[in-house]
Amino acid sequence: MPRSYAKSLFAAAACLAATSAAASCPNYADYSRTYHEPASEGAFRLSSMRPEPACRTFNSTGVEDAIQRLKGQIWDPDLFRLFENTFPNTLDTAIKWRGVAANNTEEELCFVITGDINAMWVRDSANQIAPYKAVMKSASDDIASVFRGVINLQARYLVVSPYCNAFHPPVEANMPAGGSGGVYSVTPPYDRKFVFTCNFELDDFGGFLQLSHDYYTATGDVSFFGKFQWIYAIQSIMAASEAMRQPSYGPGGEWLKPAYTFQSQTMSAFGTLGNNGMGNPINDTGLIRSPFRPSDDSATFDLLIPGNMMMARYLNSTADIMERLPNAPKGLAQQMRDMADEVREAIKDYGIVTGPHGKRMYAYEVDGFGGRILMDDANIPSLLSAPFLGFLEKDDEIYKNTREFVLSRKNPWYCSGPVINTVGSPHIRPGAAWPMAAIMAIMTTDNDGEIIRSLKELVQSTDGLGLIHESVDSFSASRWTRQWFTWANGLFGQMILDLEQRKPFLLQESFQPIFIDKE
Ligand SMILES: *[C@@H]1O[C@H](CO)[C@@H](O)[C@H](O)[C@H]1NC(C)=O
Ligand SMILES: *[C@@H]1O[C@H](CO)[C@@H](O)[C@H](O)[C@H]1NC(C)=O
Ligand SMILES: *[C@@H]1O[C@H](CO)[C@@H](O)[C@H](O)[C@H]1NC(C)=O
Ligand SMILES: *[C@@H]1O[C@H](CO)[C@@H](O)[C@H](O)[C@H]1NC(C)=O
Repeated sequence: MPRSYAKSLFAAAACLAATSAAASCPNYADYSRTYHEPASEGAFRLSSMRPEPACRTFNSTGVEDAIQRLKGQIWDPDLFRLFENTFPNTLDTAIKWRGVAANNTEEELCFVITGDINAMWVRDSANQIAPYKAVMKSASDDIASVFRGVINLQARYLVVSPYCNAFHPPVEANMPAGGSGGVYSVTPPYDRKFVFTCNFELDDFGGFLQLSHDYYTATGDVSFFGKFQWIYAIQSIMAASEAMRQPSYGPGGEWLKPAYTFQSQTMSAFGTLGNNGMGNPINDTGLIRSPFRPSDDSATFDLLIPGNMMMARYLNSTADIMERLPNAPKGLAQQMRDMADEVREAIKDYGIVTGPHGKRMYAYEVDGFGGRILMDDANIPSLLSAPFLGFLEKDDEIYKNTREFVLSRKNPWYCSGPVINTVGSPHIRPGAAWPMAAIMAIMTTDNDGEIIRSLKELVQSTDGLGLIHESVDSFSASRWTRQWFTWANGLFGQMILDLEQRKPFLLQESFQPIFIDKE
């Protein structure tokens, strides 16, 4: 994500209108910071946060239908307002440009911004669009075109610069770039006219694979994947992943120069890599390095277990697509499955440790030499999200032990207080809980009491603005970061639609601080 650190760095370059719509449309970075009538009818009097229809950046009938349907199902007026504001937020505000490739009018492209910088993050755009799979029934739905456009543009980015994470608008969009990403020294080198920032984060690959899987399973449209650059993107991902599995020392003990290094001028220790841009040494494990975390912060140990879980799951799932493409290179689907199996095996061998509660659990990061860090970060992929990623089942013993640790004060990044109790992130500070983690806690439990408690905390922690913030001080809802965070907003909507399927009766509950009579 282009979060606070990036924001301050590039503030000058970042003053952009929220949408490409009429000049009279407000900048959503400002709009989402102020209150708009009519307020919801509950005690929290949540603001209306949808831009007026003419200012929305994409209209989807499936999404509008879902909002209408849920209106009849959610009893609590504040909970409904939160859903109504958040679920369409990416489509309302972040679809910056749609079009087709200059050399192929069949190839749809969709440029999605994360917020106030005119750049597209591979991981964020995947997560921003993914919640809409719930309303995608076929390849002819309006929303399906957004999925194809994002997958095609991500594929273009990944073919050219698989080690990079955020990119400028495509030339076809004829748009100004969102500034230069700052002062960096990175290998392999990249084209700064094409790339915005080049932090290697394994979940960029995971996000692309997941979105591909989502589109395929929702629409059954396999031929799409054979038409444009998808196969090349997979080859690029496979080659870079293999290079990022290389250990720091060869069999004879000789040092091996890493495939990727990164250094930047920054105030933040998490904004650059130690050891002259190489990070800490890693052993030969079969796991794939992720020098940067899903928060964009640098890793302590490069072998990020949640990112590897995501790769194991989605390389295996998308091998099913590859296998069905007549023009796929021979053996590629099998290579994808093999890598998925090896990574899964390595997670078992190197990623499971004994926690401070004396139980077997997953570590957040390891180095393969015995180094490990026991924590979880709210950003997804996280350890908490392992069942959401489809890597394991909710009732997996080691997952249950891990979850117990993650959602307790044994996790150094767990934040507790009267407003919200959930996981935070070194990306902000201790004591700043991330609502995204409370949403993920709901999606990974069957315990009604826990779900109700988390929903209640989410409803009471928006500072009346009716959007999901990046972080909220666990002692004060008015101290939050990032007013315009479409990823977390979409995830909130996805969670409500998941409850509609799994536990519709919970949507009939009140989340008010006191009894109210709705009539
Ligand atoms: C969405 O619909 C409104 C009318 O309801 C229209 O004014 C607006 O231009 C549409 N947005 C897009 C991106 O098509
Ligand atoms: C279009 O251009 C891309 C490079 O941007 C290239 O990889 C692709 O093969 C071209 N497609 C066609 C149909 O020429
Ligand atoms: C890999 O994918 C296949 C086919 O979809 C599935 O049957 C299998 O269970 C998956 N393997 C794992 C370890 O999830
Ligand atoms: C490093 O990895 C090798 C296998 O690749 C293994 O034999 C060795 O035990 C590992 N070192 C440590 C300290 O775990």
